[in-house]
Amino acid sequence: MRALAQAQPNIALVKYWGKRDLERNLPATGSLSMTLASLTTTMSVEFSDAFHEDSLSVNGADEPSLLPRVARCLDRIAGASRPRAAIVSESNFPLGAGLASSAAAFAALTVAASKAAGLSRDASALARLAGVSSGSAARSLFGGIVELHCGDDDISVGSIAAIDDWPLTVVIAINDDSAKPLSSGEAMIRSAATSPFYSCWIERQEADLEAARRAVARRDFAALAKVSEHNCLKMHSVMWTSRPPVVYWNKVTLACMEAVRRLQQSEHPVFFTIDAGPQVKAVCLPEAVAPVQQAFCGIAGVTRVMTSGLGAGARVLDGA
Ligand code: DP6
Repeated sequence: MRALAQAQPNIALVKYWGKRDLERNLPATGSLSMTLASLTTTMSVEFSDAFHEDSLSVNGADEPSLLPRVARCLDRIAGASRPRAAIVSESNFPLGAGLASSAAAFAALTVAASKAAGLSRDASALARLAGVSSGSAARSLFGGIVELHCGDDDISVGSIAAIDDWPLTVVIAINDDSAKPLSSGEAMIRSAATSPFYSCWIERQEADLEAARRAVARRDFAALAKVSEHNCLKMHSVMWTSRPPVVYWNKVTLACMEAVRRLQQSEHPVFFTIDAGPQVKAVCLPEAVAPVQQAFCGIAGVTRVMTSGLGAGARVLDGA
């Protein structure tokens, strides 16, 4: 059987950086994110006894090196004795460059594979499954603003604001499309083992989550800006103080952060966040979108500016 699903990346405002259980890929803390609308990954999964091996095509090219992680995800969803699968993935944004492509990919893969295997699972169960493949993928099962809670033994995920509740828009300045040298998963394991700031980062996550939750409930942009920028800079401080250091920024990253600071000084409602890559994401209220786009377009080294509102969670598409 074949099924088609679509998912979008999500951008964390209170970040996931650290694992409590490597085997089950359980995050060390909760996190809070925005699911995007206009960056999309569409995934087709077909199971057939006629296939002799799994195959994976990403944006038209065979990707055997990514297959082991994808096959493990399919085994978790459909059982290790499942038929072999043909997987075809298409995305409209750069992959592996700090734009949460693995979140969108594993969310879409989990939804498509469950459907293709004829299994009916709700979004919470799909989120838990997706999270084993990639922690941030669990959040892309839900739309709007999403919180992931981490219990002792499991995660639970849900929307805390719907798409229409708050007109937040993300303007992304892309300056380097190439895939990151070190995956987030490997880098966070290194941080936990070597950064002297790691335990302090983990201890303070609950306070940041509470501040972000309250800001979202009150639609308090200034409060969300404050906690999100602080949380982002703390995560990068943990990365920078890992041994060897994990530095995803470049000089264009810093120029984009400076541009956001200048716009804030002239009272534009905007703040930045940055993940495991050099791209800067500016979260804006509607009146700041055009000035931020203009500022990013004027920065030497910015190759592409993408804009997205809040989007829906991963879902099955008709037409498989
Ligand atoms: C910086 O979800 O990619 O984007 O669970 O190992 O696949 P794995 O990690 P991943 O890490 C995301 C890290 C981040 C922050 C975030 O999205 O919360």
